[in-house]
Amino acid sequence: MLEIKNLFASIDGKPILKGVNLTIKPGEIHAIMGPNGAGKSTLAKILAGHPSYEVDEGSVIYQGKNLLEMEPEERAHAGLFMSFQYPIEIPGVSNTQFLRTALNAKRKAHGEAEMSLPDFEELLTEKMKMMEIKQEFKERNLNEGFSGGEKKRNEILQMAVLAPELAILDETDSGLDIDAMRIVAKGINLYSSKDVGLLLITHYQRLLDYVKPTYVHVMLDGKIVQSGGPELALELENKGYDWLVKSPEEEIVE
Ligand SMILES: Nc1ncnc2c1ncn2[C@@H]1O[C@H](COP(=O)(O)OP(=O)(O)O)[C@@H](O)[C@H]1O
Ligand SMILES: [Mg+2]
Repeated sequence: MLEIKNLFASIDGKPILKGVNLTIKPGEIHAIMGPNGAGKSTLAKILAGHPSYEVDEGSVIYQGKNLLEMEPEERAHAGLFMSFQYPIEIPGVSNTQFLRTALNAKRKAHGEAEMSLPDFEELLTEKMKMMEIKQEFKERNLNEGFSGGEKKRNEILQMAVLAPELAILDETDSGLDIDAMRIVAKGINLYSSKDVGLLLITHYQRLLDYVKPTYVHVMLDGKIVQSGGPELALELENKGYDWLVKSPEEEIVE
């Protein structure tokens, strides 16, 4: 469903991604790990269509289409969902309004009728229970005054309501206490299915104790330098990233 080939990207002329290759198929959970500054969020933002980044080389095919030519809303309507490391706050727009507008925009783009308010309320109530979010959050302004943990749970709620085919979660686990982490992981696991692709971007291995990835990739200096199964995450937890920096294979490739 997603095929990233030899992706090079920069910001203000500064190269950040230096040849990323990644293929995600439906039903797979991929985790990208790596130290701060490796380019993980940059990759997520480019996939979302963030205007600040320049793609210098390479291609991204999503469901058979050139993703890089699609507008950000087209990407969302095509079933791509992105949660960001730093979620935006929108004063004056309630969580319910935001979610219903986003869902109906997607339905409209697919030629489907808008979801009525009662049907939407029912869907939202059910998903909020799953994410252990208090019903009062329906009327709260989007992310305004939410704690870190509340924002992250709210993002998984957004994912569950919008029902994307491919979800990219950037540092959904950062700053969470263990209870919030468990709830976030439960939401991700419940959402995961044979039809859905998930890309979890995470600095720490902790989330991966609760959500079992199909593949783990390590990003260093704008490139995926190592890929493996869940055991790779444990290895990173024990050994850190340094052992990957100057591996002999790397030097030969360079
Ligand atoms: N808007 C920006 N302007 C300048 N440099 C940026 C910008 N965004 C990211 N970078 C740089 O790109 C590199 C990768 O950042 P990022 O993708 O956020 O890494 P990660 O998410 O892996 O921690 C860093 O060196 C960062 O300073
Ligand atoms: Mg980041």
